[in-house]
Amino acid sequence: MNRLVVVANRVPNPRERGATAGGLAVALKDALSRREVMWFGWSGQVGEATSAEVAEVTVGRITYATLDLGREDYRHFYTGFSNACLWPTLHYRLGLAVFSREDHAGYRRVNQAFAAALAPMLRPDDTVWVHDFHLFPMGAALRAQGCRQRLGFFLHVPFPPHAVFCGLPRAEELLVDLAAYDVIGVQTEDDAANLRAALAAAGEADAAARVAAFPIGIEAESFTQLAEKAMVKRETERFRQSLVDRALIIGVDRLDYTKGLPQRFCGYGQLLARFKAHRSKVTYLQVAPVSRGDVAQYRALRRELDEWVGRINGQHAEPDWAPLRYMTRAVARPVLAGFMRMARVGLVTPLRDGMNLVAKEYVAAQDPEDPGVLVLSRFAGAVAQLPGALLVNPLDPDEIAEALDQALTMRPAERKARWEDCAVSVFRDGARAWCRAFLSRLEGANDA
Ligand code: G6P
Repeated sequence: MNRLVVVANRVPNPRERGATAGGLAVALKDALSRREVMWFGWSGQVGEATSAEVAEVTVGRITYATLDLGREDYRHFYTGFSNACLWPTLHYRLGLAVFSREDHAGYRRVNQAFAAALAPMLRPDDTVWVHDFHLFPMGAALRAQGCRQRLGFFLHVPFPPHAVFCGLPRAEELLVDLAAYDVIGVQTEDDAANLRAALAAAGEADAAARVAAFPIGIEAESFTQLAEKAMVKRETERFRQSLVDRALIIGVDRLDYTKGLPQRFCGYGQLLARFKAHRSKVTYLQVAPVSRGDVAQYRALRRELDEWVGRINGQHAEPDWAPLRYMTRAVARPVLAGFMRMARVGLVTPLRDGMNLVAKEYVAAQDPEDPGVLVLSRFAGAVAQLPGALLVNPLDPDEIAEALDQALTMRPAERKARWEDCAVSVFRDGARAWCRAFLSRLEGANDA
């Protein structure tokens, strides 16, 4: 089988097995274990200047080929255009976008540099699969280097309606860039319709026909096993003891303004204020690892959340009960899986999310005989695959409080029925199936 070249801004560190790996890393590692893979992108390191040489490490069948970013490129490409401009726009938050010509130039420069470094490493029969919004122009830049390989692109985040997207300065350029790919994958049918309309408006009707939805999944069985194994860990037992039989609500998100965390904390406050039976009977653990701390809006959010935690605990705590436990450090996946299994409620309320794999992980982590309830934002891409979830509008804290009350008081038979409705797709439509579906579209049905 020919080699697959995965291009993504984040390349997993081959030495950090599992614990902190992102969703894509986990998905591809499991799904592609039988194929030769080169994973190309940023090393995660920032140096004086963007490296001229690609560093290669091979572990088994996977070669990790990485470049360090120079300080200026990190600032303009990653922090600036990717995270302060494209990220909010793609999440329907044009009002938060900060555009500058310098950032925009940095974004294009890094895409060019990546393409120039990758092109000579490619074999004629490689399949190249580019991931996410950092790298929209990568395909066009590779074509400009003379590459004729099959080029696929997958957007992990939402694509907003054209009227929002075209508010972004130079938006049309990005659409023209996308037309260089043979297949353009997105998470949902809504994203596909939005992107098709934007491409058509930019005069790229042919490219619009190459857009398709491939909802990403998780390797659910591995996650279930992780959760089962966690139940006998010392960390899990200590955590369980600390709860003293209180019901657990769990939230796990990067500390990001798209995740709806202030509204979620407010909703939990409403639960304690309006549904008094739950006072002293419930504990909410929010794990929110700090993310993109160089972007001003993320720092402001962190301060806001610190205030919310103080306000809720200050108002509702008892000497022997802190209603909200909040941590901005990451928790290792093998431990987190156990916490999820223990939780009576999984609380996932992004204002907008491409898919949200935490919602699927929460479902996979449950004990089928005594499962918890997923409370899910109606604006997460995962909604289509999780029909048993309690849906909320994440902007309405009262609706969150009501759903939490419903989840906490739900009878076991209904919890089980709802969980089963969610489990069907979570276990069937996994990461492996997602990779296979995308690659068979890209490579033609016979040789995937
Ligand atoms: C989202 C994006 C990914 C990104 C991840 C972590 O899931 O879709 O492309 O890697 O967030 O963000 P970071 O900026 O730390 O890479």
